[in-house]
Amino acid sequence: MFPAVIPVAGWGTRSLPASKSIPKEMLCVCNKPVIQYVVEEAAQAGVKRIIFVNSKGKSSIEDHFDRHPELESFLKKKSKPDLLKEIQALSTLIEVHSVRQKEALGLGHAVGVAASMISESHFFVLLGDEITDASPSGIQQLLNTRKVLGAEAESAGVVMVTKVSDAEVSKYGICELQAGEKSKVSRCIEKPKASDTSSRWAITGRYLLPRDVFERIVKLGKGSIGEIQLTDALDALAKEGRLYICEFVGKRLDAGDALGFLEANIYFYLKSDLKDKVKNLLKEYSK
Ligand code: G1P
Repeated sequence: MFPAVIPVAGWGTRSLPASKSIPKEMLCVCNKPVIQYVVEEAAQAGVKRIIFVNSKGKSSIEDHFDRHPELESFLKKKSKPDLLKEIQALSTLIEVHSVRQKEALGLGHAVGVAASMISESHFFVLLGDEITDASPSGIQQLLNTRKVLGAEAESAGVVMVTKVSDAEVSKYGICELQAGEKSKVSRCIEKPKASDTSSRWAITGRYLLPRDVFERIVKLGKGSIGEIQLTDALDALAKEGRLYICEFVGKRLDAGDALGFLEANIYFYLKSDLKDKVKNLLKEYSK
């Protein structure tokens, strides 16, 4: 199975001040940190190795997936076997590596920093603040699309997309399709104005990319908002006829801003044991 790169180096400006000293990926949705949903999705799809691209002050993300002997012996002593099992399971979920992005130069740059850690033909990029709830999972859907495309997509990339409204176009990387094609991409543009493209296919947080995308990344200059954009490297693949979209089927939650974070909490609490109590609270406060 291909490894996954999870860029988590960003400041999380949309989540400040909450993310000033806690990585935004460690903020809790329902009873677990956002990043745990992403790593669990990877593990469930069979990913064996993840590479966090992190920065100063983000070590709590790795710690979350590491052993914690003191806590484990405390839980043993207090006879809390279920909690102990849950805590131990986190450290055996997946093999975790990390690499530092020393300067915040953009998503493309962050992914590029992981180049030396990838030797496989392809790798996933998973954005650490986007949670998906779907069956099959988002990652599995990418793999399924690749399988259906067969030999044609052997050396290509597949990006997860969703259709967005005109008002949302400028928040996303947008994929334009080749004429007459259902999934073959002709062009990718980072956060265009709605009037600059007729496409509404927005790139969401799951990518399956060929290893040689790193060669495209190193050639990139600064793009949209002065950053090295992953979307510009995807555009280079599209120009070579080596990029396809996979329309995501399921629930996607962007926990990276206040409203999305609230929605993700409501969504997962309404699926938890507390659902009736949460429903009552929501009713109470909607009066
Ligand atoms: C990033 C990507 C963008 C993509 C989006 C998905 O933007 O640059 O292409 O559509 O994630 O959420 P960001 O949300 O980090 O500004």
